[in-house]
Amino acid sequence: MSQPQIKLYYKNVTADCLGTEHGITDAQLKALAKKTSPLISQLNKERKAGQTPYRDLPFNTQTAQKVKALAGQLKDRCENLVVLGIGGSALGNVALQTALNPYMHNLDNAQRPGPRLFIFDNIDPPQLASFLKWLGDKLDKTIFNIISKSGQTAETISQFMIIRQLLLDKFGPAGLQKHIVATTDPEQSTLRKIAVEDKLRCLEIPPGVGGRFSVLSAVGLFSAAMCGIDIDSLLAGARDMDARVSCEDFYKNPAAINAAINYHFYNHGKKISVMFPYSYHLKDLADWYRQLWAESLGKAKDLTGNEVHIGPTPVKALGATDQHSQVQLYREGPNDKLFTFLQVNNFHKDLKIGPAPDCAPELKFLAGADLSKLLNSEKKATEYTLLQDKRPCLTVVFNEVNAYTVGQFIYLYEVTTSFAGALFGINTYDQPAVELGKEATFAIMGKTGYEKLAQQIQPLTEIDGDFLL
Ligand code: PA5
Repeated sequence: MSQPQIKLYYKNVTADCLGTEHGITDAQLKALAKKTSPLISQLNKERKAGQTPYRDLPFNTQTAQKVKALAGQLKDRCENLVVLGIGGSALGNVALQTALNPYMHNLDNAQRPGPRLFIFDNIDPPQLASFLKWLGDKLDKTIFNIISKSGQTAETISQFMIIRQLLLDKFGPAGLQKHIVATTDPEQSTLRKIAVEDKLRCLEIPPGVGGRFSVLSAVGLFSAAMCGIDIDSLLAGARDMDARVSCEDFYKNPAAINAAINYHFYNHGKKISVMFPYSYHLKDLADWYRQLWAESLGKAKDLTGNEVHIGPTPVKALGATDQHSQVQLYREGPNDKLFTFLQVNNFHKDLKIGPAPDCAPELKFLAGADLSKLLNSEKKATEYTLLQDKRPCLTVVFNEVNAYTVGQFIYLYEVTTSFAGALFGINTYDQPAVELGKEATFAIMGKTGYEKLAQQIQPLTEIDGDFLL
C-alpha cells in the first residue's frame, strides 16, 4: 500500500484569491518559475557533488542500523533519557518527540514505548537543579545523550561537565561509559577528545551537516529510536520527498514552489513568515522550522559580498490557541505576513463532544461533533478571515501525522530552505552571527585566547548607574 504524501496547497496566495494587488498573478508565477527552475538543476548538481551532505542523510542506512543497535542495547536498562544540546542539536529531537509520541509520554507508563525523555536546551540553573533533584536515585536507570557538533558550545558542555561529575561521584569512571552517549563530529570536536579519553559510546554527526540540518542524522535519530519512534519510516518519508524536491519541473516541485512563493512575498512587503499548525503534535516542528529559516536566511551579506541584511522573520503560532492571542494583530495589524498553516485531515485519536446541557440549547451545534472537526473548522475560519483581509495563506496538508509524513515534512522544509537561500543569493549554511555570540561568551567567561575580545566587550556591557532607574 502506498504511503500518504503531505501536500502543499497554494491557491490562497494567488491573485485569483487575493486580487492582483495582493496575490501572485499568473505572470508573476511564470516569472518565479523562470527564476527558480535553473536553481533546481543547480541544487541537484550541488547535491551530486557532495556540497549539501544533509541531503544524503535519509539514504544513510548504516547510521540508522547503528542507532537502532545501540538503542536496542540500552533501552531495557533505561527509564530516563536525558538529551543535552542546544539549537540544531536539540530542536529536531523535541520536534520528533512531540510529533510522534503521545502527549503523556513522560507521565504514563502505559502510553510510553521507551524511556521518559527530557531535553535540556538551556542552562537555567533552577530548572536543571530541580530536574537533578528529581533524578536523584534514578541515576542508575538514566542515559545521557550529549549532542554537540563542535563539542565546545558553552551551554551544552557545561551541562555535560555537571553530569559527568555527578556520574563520576556516584559510579566512578565506569559510570561514564555506562551512562553517556556522545553525539559529535567524528574528528573536529572537543567532545570527541573527551569521549576518547573517557571511553564514551559515540555517535557521529557527518562533517558538513550543520546543526539545523542534522535532525535526520544520529542527532535526532538516537533519542527517537530510544523512545519508540519508527526511524526507518521517518527516513523513508524523507527519501520519498527527496524524489519530489529533485523534480526539474518547477510546477511539480513543492520545495521550489514553496521557496519561490516565500521569496515573492518577502519582496512584496511580507517580511514575516508565520507557521501556524492546527495540531499539538506539529507545534514543535514549527519551532524547529523557526531556527532553520532564521539561521539559514538571516544574513548581512550576499554571495558576492554586498551588504543586504536580508531574511524573513519566522514566527510560530498554534491553532486554535493563538486565535485568541495573535489573530487580532494578524488580521488588522500591518499586512506584512505570509501564513503557512499545517493541517491534519485524520487525527489518530478523536473525541466526540458531549450533549448540550438542557439549559443551553444554543450549544446544540457542537453536540456530538468530532473535536477534530471543530479544530479543522477553526483553521478554515481563521484562513477565511485572513483572506478577507488580503493576507496570503499557504497550507501543508498532512493526511495523517506519522513518522513517514513527518520525515517528508522535515525534508521538504530543509530543501525549501536551500531553494530560498539560493533565491536570496546568500550562504544558507553558515551562521557567523551565532558564532560571534559563542566567542563573546567564551571571552566573558575568561577563556584563554579571548582576552582582546573580553576587553572590547567590557565597556559595552558594564551597567552605567546614570541610566539605571
Ligand atoms: O544550527 C546550528 O549550527 C546551531 O544552532 C548549532 O546547532 C548550535 O549552535 C549548537 O552547536 P553545537 O552542536 O556545536 O553545540
